[in-house]
Amino acid sequence: MSEHEFKGLIGQPLDRVEGPLKVSGRATYAADWRGDKPHLIGFIVESPVAKGRIVSIDTKAAEACAGVEAVVTHENTPKQIPFGERAKGGRFAQSHAMMRTDAIRHLGYPVALVVAQTFEQARHAASLVRCEIAAEDGVFNPEKHEDQAVKPDELDGTPEVDTEAGDFEAEYGKAAHQVEGEFHTPSQHAAAMEPHATVAQWDGDKLTVHMSIQILGDGRKAFANTFDIDPEDVRIVSPYIGGGFGSKLGVHNEAILAAHGAKLTGKPVRIAQHRRNVFSNGPHRPRHRQRLKLGADANGKIVAIDHATLSIMARDYPFAEAAASPTRASYATKAMRTSHRVVEGDIPKADSMRAPGEAVGTLTFESMIDELAHSCGVDPVEFRVRNEPEKDPHSGKPFSTRKMRRCLQEGAEKFGWKGPVSRREGDWLIGHGMAAAIRPNLMQEAEAEIELSTDGHLTVRLDMTDIGTGTYTILTQIAAEAMGVAPEHVTVKLGDTDFPETCGSGGSFGAGSTGTAVFEAAKALKDDLLKRAAKADSEWKGTNSKELRIDGANIALGNRSLPIAQLGDGSGGISAKGAAKPGKEYKTMAQYSYGAQFAEVAVDAVTGEIRLRRLTGVFDAGLILNEKTARSQLMGGMIFGIGAALMEESLMDERYGAFMNRDLAEYHVAVNRDVPRLDVHMIEGFDENSNPLGSKGIGELGICGAGPAIANAVFAATGHRVRKFPIHMEDLLEHLPAIG
Ligand code: MOS
Repeated sequence: MSEHEFKGLIGQPLDRVEGPLKVSGRATYAADWRGDKPHLIGFIVESPVAKGRIVSIDTKAAEACAGVEAVVTHENTPKQIPFGERAKGGRFAQSHAMMRTDAIRHLGYPVALVVAQTFEQARHAASLVRCEIAAEDGVFNPEKHEDQAVKPDELDGTPEVDTEAGDFEAEYGKAAHQVEGEFHTPSQHAAAMEPHATVAQWDGDKLTVHMSIQILGDGRKAFANTFDIDPEDVRIVSPYIGGGFGSKLGVHNEAILAAHGAKLTGKPVRIAQHRRNVFSNGPHRPRHRQRLKLGADANGKIVAIDHATLSIMARDYPFAEAAASPTRASYATKAMRTSHRVVEGDIPKADSMRAPGEAVGTLTFESMIDELAHSCGVDPVEFRVRNEPEKDPHSGKPFSTRKMRRCLQEGAEKFGWKGPVSRREGDWLIGHGMAAAIRPNLMQEAEAEIELSTDGHLTVRLDMTDIGTGTYTILTQIAAEAMGVAPEHVTVKLGDTDFPETCGSGGSFGAGSTGTAVFEAAKALKDDLLKRAAKADSEWKGTNSKELRIDGANIALGNRSLPIAQLGDGSGGISAKGAAKPGKEYKTMAQYSYGAQFAEVAVDAVTGEIRLRRLTGVFDAGLILNEKTARSQLMGGMIFGIGAALMEESLMDERYGAFMNRDLAEYHVAVNRDVPRLDVHMIEGFDENSNPLGSKGIGELGICGAGPAIANAVFAATGHRVRKFPIHMEDLLEHLPAIG
């Protein structure tokens, strides 16, 4: 383990500081917010067709209903910039115009918003809106329209859409072991517990929204770009979020609609999407077809990798999921080719969801690696160790810290790995499988402010969000340790664009980026306090601010002490700002977090029912900022991995472009009965190339590798490789042992 300076609160398993507020119902989520003015409720009328133009819309019956104050349609929406324009700031900041014209973008697209005094009034009146639409044929399945496939301008976060190194055909052609496969991974929905919700209010040209959103800074630009107003005139407040998983990175349909309703009525308007809304008025992970070809030499060394994906993109919403990106940094090889193609479709927004790229990319790639190891006759753990790259095979750059070998070896030990075991226990076929996990470690720009009151209390402010991840807690720990105080002397305030701008929550970059900003703010505050102290009392000259502590209403250093009240200008607290941005190590090095996951499954030999029995994950994420919340993140990720392997799938009726399973009864996430004992282990570490805290991204790491470990265990149990996800019992039925 590397030595580091953090010996105090950072890393400790501190309970969530906002936990009592949440369990007692006092944490104000977006739809809980009540201002000083009574507000109206909006209810969305969804289009029953995916593509077409509104011929006529009759809102008279709805308008005549008791309590209805407005019906918003494309005929009376305020001025908006066309959807998709001003995309230079990225998809989260582009115009998200709603009902600007008579065009329908996807099935479930709003054709009207009914605004009434109560939810029941709005919902009833919404049922009376009549809309005639001239329907057109839409594009829903990229494979059926592959002739329209294009190379996207960029992938999520990387300009490299395709890569090619070495001569794939030559290396694959002469490889002693060749495996190939075509996989299908489904559309999925984030299924956050809290549906998307917004309360919007206009005061003249100024817009205030209380909403559930992961990245406030971009959200503010999205409103500005939609309504052609100054971002400074938009305030977003989002202190508590009931899960995002990517589905709340940006603003979604109800947010713009609430602003429409508020503009038209002159009153605040609240819209909470209902569960079925979320499946069409929130984003989803796009489906993929993934083709893989892998070759290895006679010594079990990988020589050739080809990973080609075909997916779908919503029109004018540039998100292409980088499913082949984890492949690029995983194993040493002589030749490698990766490519991504997309077809533009008439679907709700396709967007980032829980480990975009890796979640579905490692699912297929690590299945094929398993197959290649089998073909080579090498144990899958040993095969991965043997093919560990010394430098990033894609860029040739050195890795920051890469403890993949340790993850693999410790995981094997903790799980009791004896190879891909396959045995029978009565009617159950038992199999063991494993997979490697990899996820980019990102760093983004962030600012934070810290204020010391004269009585020694610290208040930290930044527009970062806590989407259930533990942000309030880790930032409290970082500020407390940096200032040398107990956590109860720190209050962290998040989720308000009035606070310094950050990157928000996403891409597993939140903790490292905003934690660094808070750490830097604390350092700046200490430097400033020492300067003020030296001015007030020359005894303090020449001391080191690192040793400065807050001691009650005083600052202290060694045996010196001074009242904080004597240091300020008499107007109250003393505050300082800090900033974080990616260092040059993000250009010169390949930065990733790693893990290895091991699964035991039991498959019913008669019915094909699949039960996960245990799952062990070992992870390398640098310095762990809070042992308890980090474990919780990893466990949640592993549970998503169970869903990816066995359950989660948004099914579309391709005649209509309609997602069919639009609720949590039919969109299956792993529930308690599906989740066995999860063993989570974190390798102690400190990545000095990552950020001053030495941490690496952890939020999405647990997802990566969990799904394929389970899929590989199903293969071990049954001898059959299923090439579509999720794996269902009916996929195995024909491949079970004969009964008799
Ligand atoms: Mo994440 S899918 O960037 O919230």
